[in-house]
Amino acid sequence: MSEPLLDVDGLCTNYGKISILRDVTLSVGEGEVVALLGLNGAGKTTTLRSILGLTAARAGKIRYDGNDITAWPAYKIARLGVGYVPEGRRMFKDLSTLENLQLAENGRGGEWTIPRVLEHLPKLAELRSRKAGRLSGGEQEMLAIGRALVSNPRLLLIDEPSQGLAPLIVEDVYRILGELKQTGVAILLVEQNALLALKIADRAYVLDSGRVVHAGLAAELAADRDRIRTLMGLEVAAR
Ligand SMILES: Nc1ncnc2c1ncn2[C@@H]1O[C@H](COP(=O)(O)OP(=O)(O)OP(=O)(O)O)[C@@H](O)[C@H]1O
Ligand SMILES: [Mg+2]
Repeated sequence: MSEPLLDVDGLCTNYGKISILRDVTLSVGEGEVVALLGLNGAGKTTTLRSILGLTAARAGKIRYDGNDITAWPAYKIARLGVGYVPEGRRMFKDLSTLENLQLAENGRGGEWTIPRVLEHLPKLAELRSRKAGRLSGGEQEMLAIGRALVSNPRLLLIDEPSQGLAPLIVEDVYRILGELKQTGVAILLVEQNALLALKIADRAYVLDSGRVVHAGLAAELAADRDRIRTLMGLEVAAR
């Protein structure tokens, strides 16, 4: 079998002396959508930050597209085509939608040009002149996705895209993620809303206190509410 696009093996990450991730092993294949689930503080964002080179790994190995990127700086990892849609979106609030997209263009080339992103996310085309700080939460999430796309990623790491959004807007965001999946981008999708992420994911991992406590097919986990309840609690299973 060929090597997966992203292969994380035995990742341990600390903040100071405190051990956060303990032996996290996961993979994402080319064009695959993988959900990384877990409750508040489980270590989901820390996993993404470690993969991106934003927080150093203490132990373990991270391979991407045949390279050992474990100790690489973030800018070099981004250049390999790893895109990031961070928690809380983080855009330049005083710049327009279009200017935010222009800043993210990195000259790597590829099929995701700004016109194509605007065609795919028509809401952004309507809002191209509006300052990012004046966009709604859902619109900012779209911009964050558009911004990641113009860097032409092969792998997108997306952190809680549904957070703080009204249900109808969440549907919109997930419809776009579903469309992205069709284009063949691999996605590692972090969510607390397990059932939502499992709808578009192929496989899923569940983190608890920095450990992987479940790994399997998304459809199987989605169909097993008891298992979700055991892993993530009553409230998540009932959603
Ligand atoms: N910069 C930091 N310094 C120290 N501890 C941190 C730091 N960032 C996160 N932590 C701790 O690491 C643990 C994992 O945090 P992380 O942000 O990865 O969780 P998460 O699964 O993304 O949670 P959430 O769903 O709330 O975003 C938590 O206990 C958190 O308090
Ligand atoms: Mg987080």
